[in-house]
Amino acid sequence: MEDTLGARTFRGAAESYDRFVGRYSGELARAFADVADPRPGERALDVGCGPGALTAELASRLGVAHVAAVDPSPSFAATCAVRLPGVDVRVASAEALPFADGDFDAALAQLVVNFMTDPLAGVREMRRVTRAGGTVGAAVWDYAGEMTLLRTFWDAASAVDSAAGDLDEGRSMWPCTAEALGRLLSDAGLADVEVRQVVVSAAYDDFDDLWQPLESGVGPAGAHVAALPSKRREALRAELRSRLGVGATPFRLSARAWIAVGRVER
Ligand SMILES: C[S@@+](CC[C@H](N)C(=O)[O-])C[C@H]1O[C@@H](n2cnc3c(N)ncnc32)[C@H](O)[C@@H]1O
Repeated sequence: MEDTLGARTFRGAAESYDRFVGRYSGELARAFADVADPRPGERALDVGCGPGALTAELASRLGVAHVAAVDPSPSFAATCAVRLPGVDVRVASAEALPFADGDFDAALAQLVVNFMTDPLAGVREMRRVTRAGGTVGAAVWDYAGEMTLLRTFWDAASAVDSAAGDLDEGRSMWPCTAEALGRLLSDAGLADVEVRQVVVSAAYDDFDDLWQPLESGVGPAGAHVAALPSKRREALRAELRSRLGVGATPFRLSARAWIAVGRVER
């Protein structure tokens, strides 16, 4: 399996992920499942499941025996399997799904297509394993706009070190606009593609609660923090805190995501 950024920076402890972007994943999963709307009796696949937020939502709607999940990160797949006994969890990438044609009624990828080595190949695989008439869906953050945590993080990182601009997920992540995401699903051969926006939020005890998981190196933002020498890391910490305007008391941040769904035609 190729060691891409999307695979590499999500190899650590699931707990760090839970405290980083995973904070938003449960609410996003509920919104995504409402849009994809899998019905009791149907089978669904969670592609790039991570520690299992969307898997859990699908399992609560369909039952664990009707849900499968894959992720190329062995530690995330293992955590998902422990958290959701009875779900068929496998270590695999979207680009090579270990399932037969038409095995599922729905295949969904939450916060994953932008990390795939080949998003078009990944979504085509999701289409292949979904039956005719079934649903393929993908959700991504609005990195360039209203994903407050990551937008502010990369603005702060670029202010501290202009070279960090090249790493800014708002620029480097494709397909993370409503148009690009919809086009990806259409290009993968899906019909009746619709894109919606959803705004979710997450609670923090204080700024340290937000910063600590970044130091563990999780995700591209965490990898950037972990690679910085201590003085620059401190400067980024201060810049981020100041730009967010938060400190020692609890706060919430909002995050906008795009959700696209399409129907499989054969
Ligand atoms: C931001 S996390 C999203 C996890 C989970 N879906 C959620 O909503 O919390 C991105 C996930 O995509 C996985 N990933 C990276 N490359 C992938 C690929 N080519 N196919 C499937 N999953 C991939 C990572 O291992 C990681 O678990």
